[in-house]
Amino acid sequence: MSVELRGITKSFGSLVANDAIDLKVEAGQIHAILGENGAGKSTLMNILFGLLQPDQGEILIEGKAIQVNEPSDALAAGIGMVHQHFMLIPVFTVAENIVLGHEKIRGVGSLDLREARTQIMEIAKRFNFEIDPDALIEDLPVGVQQRVEIIKALFFNAKIIILDEPSAVLTPQETDELLNVMRELKKQGKSIIFITHKLREVQEVADEITIIRRGKVVGKAKPTATQEELASMMVGRPVDLEVTKKPFTPGKVILKISDLKVTDNRGRALVSEINFDVHAGEILAVAGVQGNGQTELARAILNLEPHVYGSITIDGSEIVGRTVNESLESGIAFVPESRELDGLISSFSIAENLILDTFHSAPISKSGILDLEKIRSNAEEYTKQFDVRLQSISDSASSLSGGNKQKVVLARELTRPVKLLVASQPTRGLDVGSIEFVHERILAERDAGRAVLLFSNELDEVMALADRIAVMYHGSIIDIVDPSVTRNELGLLMAGVKGKTA
Ligand SMILES: Nc1ncnc2c1ncn2[C@@H]1O[C@H](COP(=O)(O)OP(=O)(O)OP(=O)(O)O)[C@@H](O)[C@H]1O
Ligand SMILES: [Mg+2]
Repeated sequence: MSVELRGITKSFGSLVANDAIDLKVEAGQIHAILGENGAGKSTLMNILFGLLQPDQGEILIEGKAIQVNEPSDALAAGIGMVHQHFMLIPVFTVAENIVLGHEKIRGVGSLDLREARTQIMEIAKRFNFEIDPDALIEDLPVGVQQRVEIIKALFFNAKIIILDEPSAVLTPQETDELLNVMRELKKQGKSIIFITHKLREVQEVADEITIIRRGKVVGKAKPTATQEELASMMVGRPVDLEVTKKPFTPGKVILKISDLKVTDNRGRALVSEINFDVHAGEILAVAGVQGNGQTELARAILNLEPHVYGSITIDGSEIVGRTVNESLESGIAFVPESRELDGLISSFSIAENLILDTFHSAPISKSGILDLEKIRSNAEEYTKQFDVRLQSISDSASSLSGGNKQKVVLARELTRPVKLLVASQPTRGLDVGSIEFVHERILAERDAGRAVLLFSNELDEVMALADRIAVMYHGSIIDIVDPSVTRNELGLLMAGVKGKTA
């Protein structure tokens, strides 16, 4: 089924998020949309799916104008959407989640679970997916949860599927599986609108590419375009995709971890036998397949984990057993893995989110009184420096686009005078231009003598930034290697096959 958007315009106050956008997606086509953070991609898709109403413009299916007042209209017209953040209920099973969506939208309880299970199995078989309809969502890896969202769309008989940054939260392996799923959907005649910041993915699966900048369509491209061409069309200037690094001159030990163990409530070890140091002026990157203890290790350093044993010192002082605030005050900046859960308070303004760690001391507050002028100028300065695209610093953080939320967290954490920066997936959801900037900033922190502990699922990022790479597997660090390691060797280490030590 073909879908066409004509002259779509949408403003939020004075900000024109979509400015007379035209987009045509042919039947059986994978159409990628590229654009900077805040370019207006999610807004456009939310309009197509009926979550937002355009100020102007129309939507046509197979050449016929349709009215999409709410998602149920979109679903009825054959349009399905997998959101940037999943909307599944963790304690329900796969089948229950799918049926629940059905009841909510159709407003009837007519569909029984058994029938739904059968249909889910049929869809899974037809599209070559693996899924257990009785599995609880919370037990499933992110990649499989996403597949549930796709199956849900197919369950509603979607012919056009919108995928808004589906790979942002996936491991490289899960991403490859997703690309295969997309190819399979296309083979069976589905149209896909695919939003991503990863140019490699676009080159691999897209048939057609539309580029949006500041709310306007600025061009089209074919997947044969080079990454440099795509990047500069998106950003409007050449982007240096290579990272240049100054030589490594490590100073004294800042972070020292000895015999660290983290357990869950039942005493089961999530992380154990961790021993390593990070020096001033050094970036130590932790590489590993997601779920091998990286999250718990990062959280343990911030005292966010309840059961931590062993020793963690920051510049010589012990922090195990202290509070989160004491950890931060001992000189740690923290970019959490999930900006939604730990990084931002979405109902607070952007300006307030930029002082979450510093509001209790000078220069933000004096004798317990907040300096509102300072908060404002602080926000103006940081949002400018980090190129946060927004309408007003007093808008709530929830109004920001995905990548701009991430930039607010980075602006807050990368500008604090600390000894150690712990950054988990710092460039998640960022456009290529912003990634270039954030990489430079992280290197600048290192060159200014901070210790940096970087957690990243992006092998390219790890190899580009790291001075040393620690490989995590089954909760332990199994090796620490030099960044001259090949991708292949690193991949094998991450899979638990021990190699040479640097
Ligand atoms: N509810 C809202 N209120 C105010 N501004 C909004 C709202 N929703 C979106 N915006 C603004 O509209 C612009 C476009 O946002 P959108 O989410 O469409 O960007 P995007 O292209 O999806 O970016 P990203 O790659 O970061 O996800 C942003 O500047 C954002 O701050
Ligand atoms: Mg978006």
